[in-house]
Amino acid sequence: MDIEKLISSRRIIKKFKAEPIDQNLLLSWLKTASMAPNHRMTEPWEIVFIGSETRAKLNHKTDFGNAPTVFAVLSNIGSLQLVRDENMVAVSCFIQNFMLLAWSAGVGCFWSSLGVSAPVRHILNVSDEYEVIGIFGAGYPEEIPEAKKRTEMDAKITYLL
Ligand SMILES: Cc1cc2nc3c(=O)[nH]c(=O)nc-3n(C[C@H](O)[C@H](O)[C@H](O)COP(=O)(O)O)c2cc1C
Repeated sequence: MDIEKLISSRRIIKKFKAEPIDQNLLLSWLKTASMAPNHRMTEPWEIVFIGSETRAKLNHKTDFGNAPTVFAVLSNIGSLQLVRDENMVAVSCFIQNFMLLAWSAGVGCFWSSLGVSAPVRHILNVSDEYEVIGIFGAGYPEEIPEAKKRTEMDAKITYLL
């Protein structure tokens, strides 16, 4: 798939087939995703794979669409707000890299913000040095939703003299 098609066809997936993803494939996508831009080479991402016991404790309303794999992506907060913000942006680049690599192999992701809550942080054993950017379900889609229309870019662009 060419890069344009890859980016525009990717969807957040909310229902998955039971078929597992090869763990080596997953690890190779994470490795490649780590080529994401990151200021001062902080490499702020950490991945926490969530096993069945911990997953049950999260008690997510759809159990992440029954995704065969669930993991959290954390970002190091650093010692300054600027570093925290830049790290979060770098982790977002990492996540998009990962999602596109997965999508190119037919694997979709669900992105949940559940990790912002204190009880969830506690269940995931996240230290004060990290924030949870997302909890992801990954797997082969059972359903691929229609694309949500985006605003024309003309309305988002300003040209300064
Ligand atoms: C930071 C962030 C947090 C998100 N949190 C959630 C969430 O908690 N639940 C959810 O259903 N989707 C979540 N999403 C996915 C968006 O809802 C989704 O990307 C958006 O609807 C556009 O759909 P698309 O990615 O399939 O084009 C999140 C996306 C981002 C970037």
